[in-house]
Amino acid sequence: MEECPLNGFYSPAQRERYRQAIPGRYSCRAYKAGPDADQLAALHYAAARVCLPGVRIEIVPCPDRLFLHVPLVDPIRGASHAAYFIADMDACLPRALAGISGEAFVLEAAALGVDTCWVSATYRRGAVDADLAENERVVAVTPLGVAEKEPPTARKRKKLADICTTPPEKWPLWAYQAAEAVRRAPSAVNMQPWSLSYTQHTLRLLGRRADSLDMGIAMLHMEAAAGDALHLWQWGEDKCVAHLIVEENK
Ligand SMILES: Cc1cc2nc3c(=O)[nH]c(=O)nc-3n(C[C@H](O)[C@H](O)[C@H](O)COP(=O)(O)O)c2cc1C
Repeated sequence: MEECPLNGFYSPAQRERYRQAIPGRYSCRAYKAGPDADQLAALHYAAARVCLPGVRIEIVPCPDRLFLHVPLVDPIRGASHAAYFIADMDACLPRALAGISGEAFVLEAAALGVDTCWVSATYRRGAVDADLAENERVVAVTPLGVAEKEPPTARKRKKLADICTTPPEKWPLWAYQAAEAVRRAPSAVNMQPWSLSYTQHTLRLLGRRADSLDMGIAMLHMEAAAGDALHLWQWGEDKCVAHLIVEENK
């Protein structure tokens, strides 16, 4: 398995920004305004800096009828701009890499006061106007803008104990905090398809599909929570998506 490109990719300042943005981020579906010119410039700058090799993010004026309206989900409306998350499908684990990079972008947006919503299913493929190389695919999109309403006060999430294979209170603080950051992460249909196990300086992210946006998003949240601690990522195998190994004896 190739080396995990997350190692050393994000600066301490980026990781701290993401850690602080995690509690406030939520999926916004109704927008009253687009990002202003300063926000848009900062989003372009962020898009160019957060992408792991094999991923790129394009920011565009939101095409007409990009978002599909489906029963039981609030429609996405009012967005002036959108971002396309584009992956090189020849890369190793392209969707996971897009999940990592895309969530870094989403949290950069949150830090700028720009609201977003990951959308990997309910958009019209035919409305996407990205220029793609042969190996590239748009794996998700997000609207960009300012929310019409106040953010929700609570998010529907599993309990921490239900996503940890042993009681997380017994884990070192960094591992507990990383698990809590995963618990807060967004996921498709809010499935939260992950669990975490800890042994010997190592937190393992477990799940059925390593190459998924959800797993990449969870990894970015773990990376943000690891803070200053010296740490190393390794891809896993079978049901282990990745290992996060942290130097604990400081
Ligand atoms: C990878 C991914 C794909 C998603 N796809 C869609 C989608 O197609 N349509 C949609 O309305 N919401 C989509 N969502 C938003 C989720 O439903 C939302 O993140 C989840 O319900 C948790 O809510 P929160 O983001 O407000 O915390 C997606 C989220 C993720 C992370």
